[in-house]
Amino acid sequence: MITGEAKIDKVVEYLRSKNVAIFQVNALTRNGRDELMSIFSRVFMEFQLNLEYLFNIYSAIVEVIFNGIKANVKYLLYQEELRQKLIHHANPDEIDELLEIILNEEALREFMNRFVVPDKIKKNTMRILKLEENLRTGRNLSEAEIKALQDFRAKLQKEEITIFFSIGIAPHQVVFSVVNDSPILKKDLARILKSRELHYQLYKEGRSTDYFAVENIDTTESAGLGIAMADEVYYEMKLDPRQYFTIVTEEGRTRALLRFPRERISML
Ligand SMILES: Nc1ncnc2c1ncn2[C@@H]1O[C@H](COP(=O)(O)OP(=O)(O)OP(=O)(O)O)[C@@H](O)[C@H]1O
Ligand SMILES: [Mg+2]
Repeated sequence: MITGEAKIDKVVEYLRSKNVAIFQVNALTRNGRDELMSIFSRVFMEFQLNLEYLFNIYSAIVEVIFNGIKANVKYLLYQEELRQKLIHHANPDEIDELLEIILNEEALREFMNRFVVPDKIKKNTMRILKLEENLRTGRNLSEAEIKALQDFRAKLQKEEITIFFSIGIAPHQVVFSVVNDSPILKKDLARILKSRELHYQLYKEGRSTDYFAVENIDTTESAGLGIAMADEVYYEMKLDPRQYFTIVTEEGRTRALLRFPRERISML
């Protein structure tokens, strides 16, 4: 991510002249998170947004970016797994093409997912993210671990799997968008919708934070807190997150859009 005051000035300049600033994110290191916080603080001050919401909105965005990073890792591992399966059934020089066809066609992608063991992908995703985290926090990695991480990063780069994050300032709303290069599978989307609906019901009963009780949280993937935390930011503002925070998959990419009405988050 970007660094330094000069770069933050540039962000503000872009927001003033074009109403939008776009960033490419490859990983969210601690430095990256600090930089993102500096950008948020500056943007909030420049555009007179209510600082009371700064930390909550920032945290929601960090969760959404992490989801994108995780989804990209998971998707690449899923592709690798499919490739392994295809090796036994196809001509080696046709595999790339076959994979391309499967991945670009939703029905095929969903179908092939049945042949991939979810637990294996989940375990490997956790492993890669854990290695990234250990490297980030300066823990010692073995040579094999460093190599595994390097290989994985090289693959992400080769496949051009990435994340774009943007901030948009329009007259009536502030919009944050996170786009990652991987689709949400139908079963995952169904899970998200179900959890968000439950959270909304609890909100209507005046007890939205009860959602965070163990029996409600969906731990299929990991803690299952990210989206709920973002939703809670909206509930605290008395806004319906189902309307302002959307997650949509299109052409193999997933876009999370978090909108905030300008008058709701502006300083009065
Ligand atoms: N950008 C995305 N692309 C693909 N899948 C996504 C994306 N964002 C969320 N998901 C799916 O939505 C699920 C719920 O996300 P959420 O952030 O609420 O929980 P989690 O990531 O599983 O756990 P935690 O955030 O607590 O680590 C994820 O497990 C994942 O399957
Ligand atoms: Mg998450």
